[in-house]
Amino acid sequence: MENFSQIESDILSKIKNINDRKSYESIKTEIFGKKGIITELFKKIGSLDQSQRKDFASKLNSLKTKATELLENKLENFDQSEINKKLKNEKIDVTLPGRTYFTGKIHPVSQVIDEVTSIFSEIGFSVEEGPDVENEYYNFSALNTPENHPARDMHDTFYLSNSKDLLLRTHTSPVQIRTMLKSKPPFKIIAPGRTYRHDSDQTHSPMFHQLEGLHIDKNINMGHLKGCLYYFVKKFFEVEKVKIRFRPSHFPFTEPSAEVDIGYKIQDGKIKIGEGDKWLEILGCGMVHPQVLKNVKVNPKQYQGYAFGVGIDRLAMLKYGINDLRAFFESDIRWLEFYGFDPLDVPTNYRGLSR
Ligand code: DAH
Repeated sequence: MENFSQIESDILSKIKNINDRKSYESIKTEIFGKKGIITELFKKIGSLDQSQRKDFASKLNSLKTKATELLENKLENFDQSEINKKLKNEKIDVTLPGRTYFTGKIHPVSQVIDEVTSIFSEIGFSVEEGPDVENEYYNFSALNTPENHPARDMHDTFYLSNSKDLLLRTHTSPVQIRTMLKSKPPFKIIAPGRTYRHDSDQTHSPMFHQLEGLHIDKNINMGHLKGCLYYFVKKFFEVEKVKIRFRPSHFPFTEPSAEVDIGYKIQDGKIKIGEGDKWLEILGCGMVHPQVLKNVKVNPKQYQGYAFGVGIDRLAMLKYGINDLRAFFESDIRWLEFYGFDPLDVPTNYRGLSR
């Protein structure tokens, strides 16, 4: 018969020496594993004399209970000390200042597109889009700008092919043609978008933005054009009274054509729209040329209307006091942080109209 008390003290001292999870696992297997000390002792019971059996079994059972208990205690201690260690290391200092997080800003150009879209949609205009890469027909010919017409030079076009057929659109006016070709009158649309010209200085960038407007119906006249532009300028600049001047001009796709100036003055170094006796040009417009209507199979005897084109970047510069256009496209995050709009706190009532 084994020396039971020797075995018992061996087991207990092994358990006592456990000092980490790894040694815990290996000692546990050594004692209770398939070939563990206690497991083996249990197997022996059957081979013992009847007289020894009972006594041995009860000692063995209490040793098993004791060893199990001690092992469990060890495990609990590990858990506890790990928790304590974590608490010590990961102490949160609630007096530290909160972490700031950065939110994106809405670019002034996107903001202005949202605003003008909202303003025109209130009076029944819907939004159309066209491609940035256009062909010569939509950008010039269909708009009554024949080959060798000076407007083609004026526009400083970026051609994409030697045949001069593919180009970057020089204005948003081709959207007029695309819109009228794909459905039937009446038309009442605006088309905001990117436009391109070979030009770069403080107020010109090779890529810029325009907003096109087109309204064609029976009996539309210049009075409607004026009414629409007054409404727009008042809403956009958020002024009650505004002075507008129509100056005769020339565009191949309108007849008559006009350029529109708005009255302003400089007060405390800032521009004030609607007051004063200075004039600022903001857009080109006119009554759509009968030839343009013929080009898109609309009968000019039955239908007529007006069109206009506004520089969006210029609108943004005027309304938000930005004086260098080039900064719009330099992707300087500090500039955007300063001039951009908080998506949750846009200045006027145009919130929620996202593109
Ligand atoms: N497309 C012209 C430009 O880029 C602007 C313009 C003038 C558009 C008169 C129009 C218009 O629709 O009627 O200079």
